[in-house]
Parts: sequence; C-alpha cells; structure tokens
Amino acid sequence: EIMSGDWSSDVCSSDLKYPCAARLHSLSFFGGGGQSFMRILLLGSGGREHALAWKIAQSAKCSKLFIAPGNAGTGAVGENVAIGVNDFDKLKDFVVEEKVDMVVVGPEDPLVNGVYDCFKEDSRTANIPVIGPSKAGAVLEGSKDFAKAFMKRHSIPTAAYETFDSTTIEEGMRFLETLKAPYVLKADGLAAGKGVLILPTLEEAKKELREMLGGMFGNASAKVVIEEFLSGIECSVFVLTDGTHYQILPEAKDYKRIGEHDTGLNTGGMGSVTPVPFATKEWMGKVEERIIRPTVDGLKAEGIDYKGFIFFGLINVEGEPMVIEYNCRMGDPETESVMLRLKSDIVDLFEGVAEGNLNQRQVEFDSRSAVCVMLASGGYPEEYVKGYPITGLDKVEDSVVFHSGTAVKDGQVVTAGGRVIAVSSYGENIEEALKKSFAEAQKIEFTDKYFRRDIGQDL
Ligand code: AMP
Ligand code: GLY
Repeated sequence: EIMSGDWSSDVCSSDLKYPCAARLHSLSFFGGGGQSFMRILLLGSGGREHALAWKIAQSAKCSKLFIAPGNAGTGAVGENVAIGVNDFDKLKDFVVEEKVDMVVVGPEDPLVNGVYDCFKEDSRTANIPVIGPSKAGAVLEGSKDFAKAFMKRHSIPTAAYETFDSTTIEEGMRFLETLKAPYVLKADGLAAGKGVLILPTLEEAKKELREMLGGMFGNASAKVVIEEFLSGIECSVFVLTDGTHYQILPEAKDYKRIGEHDTGLNTGGMGSVTPVPFATKEWMGKVEERIIRPTVDGLKAEGIDYKGFIFFGLINVEGEPMVIEYNCRMGDPETESVMLRLKSDIVDLFEGVAEGNLNQRQVEFDSRSAVCVMLASGGYPEEYVKGYPITGLDKVEDSVVFHSGTAVKDGQVVTAGGRVIAVSSYGENIEEALKKSFAEAQKIEFTDKYFRRDIGQDL
C-alpha cells in the first residue's frame, strides 16, 4: 500500500529540500579535495527514516540517497525503492546494480534478522559498510534475557531480575513472591513494543506469567524476564559506535502513552523533546562512565561485531542512571527531534563508523532545543481507518514535517498508519519549540487527527 502511486509529491516544507545533487554541485564548484561522494541506501519507512533521510541528504558527502521502501516524505529528499527491509537478496542485488557505497539501517527488524551478516557473507557486498550491528549485536534488543545477562556480566546498573521458561514456572511464581508491587514481566523476544507488562498485584502477575509462558506472545514469550520495578523519569540516550570508539548524540525524552498526562495504552511514541533538563553534564558523565563505556567495551571484549547506533533506554532513579532496555537502532520519535540538534555531517560520522576512526570525527550539537509532536490517526493504537487525505502540509512554515505513516494515492497524500506525521521544531527552549509545533500541527488536517497537547509539560 505504501508503495503505490507517484512519489514525487510536493508536500514538504522547504526545509526538507536538500537535494544531494545540488550540494554535490556546489562542492565540486569549490573543489572538494579528498572528499568522498557516496551513494547511500537507507532501509525503513517511518518517521525515523524520514528524519535520517533529511539529515543524510544535507551531507556534503552524499551524492545519491535511496530509501527502501520509504514513504511519501522520504520520496521528497531521495529516491524510494520498492524493496522491503527484510528482502535481503533483492537489497543486495540493488546495491550491486546501483553501485551503492553504504547501507544505513533504520529499524530493528532487519538487524535482528541479520542484514549486516548477510551483506558481509556475500563476496559482492562484503566491502559495503552496513551501519547497524551484526545479528549477534542486535540481540541486545532482540533478547531481553541476553541484554540483562550482558549488563550483569559487565556490572552495568539495571533492575534486579531473573528469567524463567515453561519448565521453571513454579520458580517464577516463587520469585514474584519475593518482589514488591508493581510487578514487571517482559517477553524475552521482540513483541512489537507490547511485550512488557506492569501488574499492580501479585495475583495478576502470576496469572500473566502463566499466560506469557503459555504462548501469549508466541515464541517471543517462551522466556520471560521478571524484574524489580524502578521508579523515575525516563530518558533515551543515543550513541554511534565503530566497535571501539563512540560518539554520544543529543539525548531525548519520548512520550509513549496515547493519553495526556501519560494515561492510556502504550504507543510507538507520541512526541519527543531534546535536551532533557535532568540530563545534566554531571548525570551524562555518570551515564558515560557506568553505562556507555562498559557497554561498548563489553561488546568488543565478547567479540560482538557492532558498528552502528546503540539506544540506551535509561531511567533516573534518585539521580542515578539505570538501564531499562537497549535498542540496536535510533528511537522513533526521538530521531525526529534529535536529528534537528545534530549539527555535524551525519555521513562523515557513518564514514568514521565504517573506517573505525569515529574518534577523529567531530560531533557538534545545536544549542537550541528541538521537539517533535506526533499527529496520529484517531483510534490508534487500537483500530483506526487509513486512507484519509492529508491537507495543509504546504502551509507549514515554522516546523520540519516528517512523514511517519503516509502514502500517495492518486496524487494525494493520505494517511497510511497509526502515527501519521511528526511536526518537529526548533526553539530557544522547549516551550518555544512546542509552541511552534502545536501551531503548525493545527494547519495539517485529516479526519480524526489526534495529538497530545501535553508533550514536554512535565519537564
Ligand atoms: P521496555 O520495552 O523494556 O522499554 O519497557 C517498556 C516500558 O516499560 C519502559 O519504557 C518503562 O516505562 C517500563 N518499564 C520497563 N521496565 C521497567 C522497570 N524495571 N521498572 C519500571 N518501569 C519499567
Ligand atoms: N521511542 C521508543 C522506541 O523507538 O523504541
């Protein structure tokens, strides 16, 4: 559905238009001595990928950007290619035919499925850098049990836990009895963001443990991690690593619940803000010392090939950072605000990852704040209707519009997902940036549009 129609839509604000070719032209005009001009393929089709595409397209080092499969927004900053993110054979053929120099992976799915290894194992593509971890590295996200055991091995602060399977249900029940309410149960494997249950009573926790191990999330809950409940504010910290060195990107806070004041069901994320006020220099120092460095060093010591993003889902427990989860990719909708604050050329950083000299690259942050407000389809994250026309995108002036779930149908941009459009803005502070996003969000219209008006209000 997302693949249909004409992609050359004229729907994005002028901020979005940074055709690589124009940049290349101006560079060659000034003579880009020793510069590399890369043809890049980005995998994915959400708001995160539109934000990454927007940033990659601004690079002086990118001569051509393809997005597979992309969406109506990415088509305006690069060329969409109708290949799915898990269709590795077709992706490799495309990379060979189109002389692609680098592959950047947006979502976790292809990483957990081994896209990195698949490229490495094929002599035609073995030398094409894939920005994203190997299958062994993506297990940090793909298995909660692995992630917890990894943190334990490397003394990285996280909630106390134990893991159980269907043969150890009774031990699981007894472990629950040793904990205090509320109870945290996590399906070991990927469960589309729905695999974590927080239960208020022991009785409910025991019942859910039995159901999870009985196949509630299929194979993803064949093992269940039970862990201590941590109380605090969450913060997403992003790192890019070449396997030895790392660079820390702007941190962000996302808003996961559908309802205002963090009520209702969990979603993919309804908004994000950066910087995060409690992530002070001192706090980030603790994060680097206790969490980031031991993680990167631990991966290397264990012989795990990891060249890509690490997303640290952290919680601030009385001033001390602890890890809630790892992801092997950037966050969505965090990327839609974080990319606004990354001043450096992202392709230069990717090149550092590929060449193993990321320490020699400059990472500069914009001192302004940035926010993203997500416009969703009414009904999401439960049932909703797709295919409603989206109007007013051309009226947006003060924000950058990233497409999350859109398609083009008969020349018209229409809704095609639960999260539809991310409205991202800069401001001297978070309040000012939010004001812009909320004002611009009013101009974009589609039937049953919904967005949270309390993003950033708790900070
Ligand atoms: P995860 O998929 O591991 O990020 O978990 C989803 C959400 O559940 C997190 O963003 C937290 O809000 C919450 N959560 C997970 N683990 C814990 C914990 N140990 N204590 C409190 N909240 C948690
Ligand atoms: N925003 C949280 C995530 O991307 O998983």
